[in-house]
Amino acid sequence: MTYYLSEPLLLEKRGAIVKNRFMKSAMSEGMASEDHAPTEELIHLYERWAEGGAGLVVTGNVMITGDALGEPGNVVLEDASDLHLFRKWAKAGKKNGNEFWMQINHPGKQVVRGLVKEGHAPSAIPFSPDLQRFFAPPRALTTAGIHEVIRRFKRTALLAKEAGFTGVQIHAAHGYLISQFLSPRHNQRTDEWGGPIENRARFLREVCRAVRSEVGEDYPVGVKINSADFMKAGFTEEESIYVIKSLEEFGIDLIEISGGTYEKAVMTGKGTTESKREAYFLEYAERLKKETTIPIAVTGGFRTKEGMEQALAAGGTDMIGLARPLAVDPSIPDKLLKGELETLDLPAVKTGIPAIDKGGMMEIMWFSQQLDRIGKGQEAKPNFSPKLSLLKSLWENGTGILKKRRV
Ligand SMILES: Cc1cc2nc3c(=O)[nH]c(=O)nc-3n(C[C@H](O)[C@H](O)[C@H](O)COP(=O)(O)O)c2cc1C
Repeated sequence: MTYYLSEPLLLEKRGAIVKNRFMKSAMSEGMASEDHAPTEELIHLYERWAEGGAGLVVTGNVMITGDALGEPGNVVLEDASDLHLFRKWAKAGKKNGNEFWMQINHPGKQVVRGLVKEGHAPSAIPFSPDLQRFFAPPRALTTAGIHEVIRRFKRTALLAKEAGFTGVQIHAAHGYLISQFLSPRHNQRTDEWGGPIENRARFLREVCRAVRSEVGEDYPVGVKINSADFMKAGFTEEESIYVIKSLEEFGIDLIEISGGTYEKAVMTGKGTTESKREAYFLEYAERLKKETTIPIAVTGGFRTKEGMEQALAAGGTDMIGLARPLAVDPSIPDKLLKGELETLDLPAVKTGIPAIDKGGMMEIMWFSQQLDRIGKGQEAKPNFSPKLSLLKSLWENGTGILKKRRV
């Protein structure tokens, strides 16, 4: 039975209809050209995802400024110079009557050493010692700097609209700049941008306000946000619910729930989450659903059709977010809807070398290689050996790939 999964979702405020309940969640592709524009490979990858049948396809994070990059292959949209390439990307990514949203992001202090000189953050608080060698040291943003970042978010959102993306998603999860502002661990400012949650939420609220005023009332705007950081003295579930409710006034069309940061990578199932079900953040989403009218997508861990149908039936989520499964088979939504598939079998991506397997970096690398294959017109290779994947990366990129990759 595909009763719930196949049901369209009306984004009421915009009048937009998402043709089914599948959301292809953001996966950073690392496929941009040297000047950070979309490439043919990237465009082809999204053609495949559009054909794969998801009602909503979201891009990997697109950076709002070339001054703050998480990886060499990040796409950046900060001016109109390459807009013709973004138009091509938008056309390919929505070719199947699906919604195609651009995820827009500023990495804050999660910027890889060597790529940029310094990171910007709410406060100049470095990472935990084991991560400091991977990331550039952070500097606290000035008030003028904060307003400049807000201006850039709205500029990128407008350019995405002009290029033909059918919506934008603001990335407020996973320990990037907005998530850093939300967290009392990373935001220790004493001005109006820090302190109580009302102040820590100000940055996200001002980004939402600015983006909404720029793109107008008829354009979908989503937010991806953590249920919690899962860290001591971090952003909590109660705070997350408070913040999401406070976004209703900006007409946010979809909240995507994830969790964790680089320091605690629970978004891909590493470390502890309280969930006993296949999807990591469902319990939280069910709590949230009682408190907000904004439609919700839950991402992380969905691996069976039954689990997805049950989650929708229970009313804790309106959409099913999928990321890694769609890197090994872009047609999964279509196959699930046609009844050709019940379970998504993902390989365990482990080299057997504890130091390599520990942080989740190996997994991200392996999945990125699958995206590369699809972009080049090949099929994904789910049986690709993680050890070979590691050797391939070392051969192509040197030991630099052992640096942290983003999620
Ligand atoms: C290779 C890779 C890149 C990712 N890049 C992003 C990203 O750019 N933005 C984002 O919000 N999440 C990113 N994620 C996290 C996914 O969107 C998703 O939250 C996570 O993989 C859990 O969902 P899954 O169990 O369906 O894979 C990435 C995950 C992977 C594996």
